[in-house]
Amino acid sequence: MHIHVLGAGAGGGFPQWNCNCHNCDGLRKGTIKARARTQSSICVSGDGVNWVLFNASPDVLKQIQEFAPLQPGRAIRDTGIAGIVLIDAQIDHTTGLLMLREGQQQREIYCTDMVQQDLTTGNPLFNILGHYCGVNWHQVPTDGQSFEVPGAANLRFTAYPLKSAAPPYSPHRNNPHPGDTIGVLVEDMSNGKKLFYAPGLGEIEPHLPPLFEQADCIMVDGTFWTNTEMIDMGLMTKTARSIGHLPQSGEGGMMEVLSAYPEARRVLIHINNTNPILNEESPQRKELEAKGIEVSYDGMDIIL
Ligand code: MLT
Ligand code: MN
Ligand code: ZN
Repeated sequence: MHIHVLGAGAGGGFPQWNCNCHNCDGLRKGTIKARARTQSSICVSGDGVNWVLFNASPDVLKQIQEFAPLQPGRAIRDTGIAGIVLIDAQIDHTTGLLMLREGQQQREIYCTDMVQQDLTTGNPLFNILGHYCGVNWHQVPTDGQSFEVPGAANLRFTAYPLKSAAPPYSPHRNNPHPGDTIGVLVEDMSNGKKLFYAPGLGEIEPHLPPLFEQADCIMVDGTFWTNTEMIDMGLMTKTARSIGHLPQSGEGGMMEVLSAYPEARRVLIHINNTNPILNEESPQRKELEAKGIEVSYDGMDIIL
């Protein structure tokens, strides 16, 4: 299985347009050692030709331009993207769909019924796309049943519901449902290798450790270092956990969780621009490195 990180940043990217936090300011001025990151997305392939896009970030056009296999050029209109899986209905994971509106063929989109509801009501991207390419929606089950994406050779997908808040514009914002956010186990049937991908993960529920246990690569939420990161910087009044992102540090944090799976590649993604791990010389980054936890970056390739 070939995993390509298209965007390793959280919503807003790095640097964020209006942000002058230590990281964003430092990156612009060249006073910290760090690299820019576009917004959260990966693509996965079993044959290196046909790809499944996970999330459609607002930066998707740039991301496609920078990864040639997504534009194989076999016909006057062509794409290497066989299907698009959405893990939630958040802006940073869905608005890129508007940039993928061209073409006669419908977009093949895989998401839960909860995400489909959001994308036809509060954030009606599917309705808008109906006036362009159209959407062929495939309902992703969250009961443990697997699905395949036609064209994406050798890959099998299984979605698991995760605790995380639905977006502010969701009709069920204050009434969480299974399927508002999912994590996906991707299995390469030709060699049995597995990726568990969950860029939004707020709580380690009992169904998760067995998934981590079997994964060869655990690619998970790297949004915040501390639970109060945004509060401490005066940027938000909510904690990381309350907006569905388990912080890396502290008791029960992502570092502690991942330390139980030393055999797997453990990779953080969806990293917010305020997170000190973006600074390659920070003590927080060194702490992760010492524990063998990787910080993903745009263009990172992982072969399983
Ligand atoms: C999140 O991950 O919490 C959201 O995407 C935040 C946002 O982009 O506004
Ligand atoms: Mn996000
Ligand atoms: Zn910033």
